[in-house]
Amino acid sequence: MAKERTLSIIKPDATRRNLTGKINAVFEDAGLSIVAQKRMQLTPAQAGAFYAVHKERPFYNDLVSFMISGPVVVQVLEGENAVAKNRDVMGATDPKKAEAHTIRAQFAESIEANSVHGSDSAENAANEISFFFAETEILP
Ligand code: CMP
Repeated sequence: MAKERTLSIIKPDATRRNLTGKINAVFEDAGLSIVAQKRMQLTPAQAGAFYAVHKERPFYNDLVSFMISGPVVVQVLEGENAVAKNRDVMGATDPKKAEAHTIRAQFAESIEANSVHGSDSAENAANEISFFFAETEILP
């Protein structure tokens, strides 16, 4: 399997609790390299556009409010099979269903405040990475 990239977001519930370093250690211990990273305050328009695929879901408005409730850390993770590997280390969306060793089982507060986002396919990863980063900002 060739090297792959995926988009990760450390969400406001995690930045609020000062968990960026602990979460980054999980990525690095799993063999994922953080090849781009920035801490930012999303605008309502950015959060709404990023999650536009969920626009019709009942949780959409709450999700956008949550994602602008504090800073996020957006990052590009690179490694062998990075999309699937990141989804493994994140665990299930609902922390109650996540396996014990995963980020969401260890750190998430709820299905909404679930500490991290990760792209769900290589195609979405490419789109999500370009949403936040220029190619010149990604430094393997
Ligand atoms: P994420 O992987 O970022 O993708 C969509 C987000 O919507 C999800 O993580 C959660 O933060 C949030 N969310 C809130 N409620 C739900 C739900 N019932 N099902 C899925 N995602 C939800």
